[in-house]
Amino acid sequence: MLLLDEKHKAIGAMLATELLEVEARFAEELGSDLTCVNDLVRHVERYRGKMLRPTLVLLCGQAAAGEGEINDAHRTLAAVVEMVHMASLVHDDILDEADSRRQGATLNALRGNEAAVMLGDYLISHAYHLCSSLDHQEAARLIASATNTVCEGELLQLANRYNWQLDEATYFDIIERKTGALCGVSCRMGALASGGAMELREAMDRFGRKLGSAFQIIDDVLDLVGNEQVVGKSLGKDLEKGKLTLPLIRHLAHAGEAEREKVLALLRGNDDDRAERVGRLLIESDAVGEARRCAETIIDQAKGELVLLPQSPARDVLESMADMVLTRNA
Ligand code: IPE
Ligand code: IPE
Ligand code: MG
Ligand code: MG
Repeated sequence: MLLLDEKHKAIGAMLATELLEVEARFAEELGSDLTCVNDLVRHVERYRGKMLRPTLVLLCGQAAAGEGEINDAHRTLAAVVEMVHMASLVHDDILDEADSRRQGATLNALRGNEAAVMLGDYLISHAYHLCSSLDHQEAARLIASATNTVCEGELLQLANRYNWQLDEATYFDIIERKTGALCGVSCRMGALASGGAMELREAMDRFGRKLGSAFQIIDDVLDLVGNEQVVGKSLGKDLEKGKLTLPLIRHLAHAGEAEREKVLALLRGNDDDRAERVGRLLIESDAVGEARRCAETIIDQAKGELVLLPQSPARDVLESMADMVLTRNA
């Protein structure tokens, strides 16, 4: 048992060391000879997020490597997926007119939409610049394809703004694309850089996609019922921007005509406290509970995808990470 604990501690130490290296690569790639560019970059670097996607690259890489070690390709790929993620957040905050993220002001709030649009572009183009330094042509192609999918997800969501009839299948299509795809490719990249077989790479992709979708369901729950100070970003944005998410879709599906009309009137109105009031209704009707249970089922399915990995401390940590998606409050 002691030996097992030591092994798990070793994974924690590996992650701490490697994530520092990923951050260094990230910063090195984004450096410019222009002070105005470096100023903007410094802003997004100042606030570190959870580093979920780089962590997935590293853990899947370690779990697929067996006795082998994390290599340079893993570190670069981890920096690339974080850069794509940050680009999507910088642009998403413009769409959502959000003013806080990672416990600080968003770039759009601080420097305006024009600077934020360009910085998002700068991040995405650097992600491909960095990725093209790798020998793995397949990695570049797959990351590009996942990024296309993320954009499709955001576009599909945009096309469904204020669609109060949004069905569950379309909601799942949106979240699988906008969040599942990048988590999936992160896991796949980890296995690829470890020389994992195609069957394993595909299973890792499925694991990441499911984990990412469950992560987004919980994010959507937090947007309704979370605490802004704890989560560290603007909440209530989904309702404000007419984005229906799972708790509300379930609530409306189960509601009788009168309840449906009451909720829709609340949503269409502009009372300042409407997000809070809808949130309360969704807790009372257990629609929030249903959404959480749905995320739980998806996490169970995700963990089922890990069977192809040999037993190892890295695999155990991947399993715990999947569980933590359900209990997180930030
Ligand atoms: C936020 O992602 C956007 C979603 C997909 C819900 P994260 O919650 O991973 O953001 P950071 O990187 O930790 O800030
Ligand atoms: C955006 O989803 C996810 C992306 C892929 C950018 P959200 O709009 O829910 O993300 P947050 O809540 O602003 O982080
Ligand atoms: Mg947003
Ligand atoms: Mg959100």
